[in-house]
Amino acid sequence: MEPVRFELIRRCPRTLARRGRLHTPHGTVETPVFMPVGTQATVKTMAPWELAEMGAGIILSNTYHLHLRPGEDMVREMGGLHAFMQWPGAILTDSGGFQVFSLADLRKITDEGVQFRSHLDGSLRFFSPERVMEIENALGADIIMAFDECPPYPASREYLETSLRRTLDWARRCQRAHARPEEQALFGIVQGGEHLDLRRQAVEALVELDLPGYAVGGLSVGEPKPVMHEVLAYTTPLLPADKPRYLMGVGTPEDLFEGVERGIDMFDCVLPTRIARNGTVLTSRGKLVIRNARYARDPRPLDEACDCRVCRTFSRAYIRHLIKAGEVLGIRLTTYHNVYFLLRLMEGIRRAIEAGRFPEYKREFYDTYGYNES
Ligand code: GUN
Ligand code: ZN
Repeated sequence: MEPVRFELIRRCPRTLARRGRLHTPHGTVETPVFMPVGTQATVKTMAPWELAEMGAGIILSNTYHLHLRPGEDMVREMGGLHAFMQWPGAILTDSGGFQVFSLADLRKITDEGVQFRSHLDGSLRFFSPERVMEIENALGADIIMAFDECPPYPASREYLETSLRRTLDWARRCQRAHARPEEQALFGIVQGGEHLDLRRQAVEALVELDLPGYAVGGLSVGEPKPVMHEVLAYTTPLLPADKPRYLMGVGTPEDLFEGVERGIDMFDCVLPTRIARNGTVLTSRGKLVIRNARYARDPRPLDEACDCRVCRTFSRAYIRHLIKAGEVLGIRLTTYHNVYFLLRLMEGIRRAIEAGRFPEYKREFYDTYGYNES
């Protein structure tokens, strides 16, 4: 039996949007879903019970960071990632296929794997598909991502072809090396840049492996939005309808709507937690920069349409004061609200799909939020 089973509940009759359920060893996750990012086995500033109380069902963590510190052996000794961080819900670990290329120094890529220097202490490391599976098996997440190469944008066609051949070979090696297929679901990652024929080739090779889920990677890496939309609109319909589809590293409110509309079920992004720490909050009327002087005496909540604990309790003036004074509570409150905002947004999307009114819901959202490119 697969550890993670996807149940398709309903499809939007006018778009590719789907309403589903992901049954995992750590609970059932309603989709489309947004996964808050907990890179270092913590969603920055949030206690796990706070995430649970606001309805987060699954979070993402990073193989690259946890391997470097505290190390996967230690996490395994502590009972695995769930026990270590005391998160009762589901966890997905990314493979390092993105971080190695964005954070590490002095990379040497061969068919065998990637040699790199730790961004923490400069120590020399080597990630191969087999090594990454060992690490992800030790961490013990419910969903583990195959080791891939996320190529930069732009990249030459020739580079993308070489990179894709490697990524597909690595996916096969990951599947062979995966030691806990009964407990952890291995997802493959579709690459291929902006080339639709390469995307198709990637899907065909990965579907051959009959994996329990598939991700679309290599997007939101600097390409224009229309390119991302085109690649998505082309790629998701090629993927098996009965398996979950995950768009990696994407999560502005606009991206969530555009992704869902093109058949995506899962998203993750550092956006809500990252912008919260420099004092930017998401609201039903668009982004709000709380440091701005105009909020100094503003008694209103961050978002008048939000019923989160922060918005039910504190004024903009108070939160602005905390952020300006460098008080840690400030960024805790903005983070709480931002994550809550995206979780409620996804809940609204799910309800709209169920009611057969996803396109209307999207239009209503853009009418008040505004549509912002980038
Ligand atoms: N996160 C965002 N994009 C990617 C990608 O293409 N590959 C991996 N492994 N992680 C990602
Ligand atoms: Zn709020």
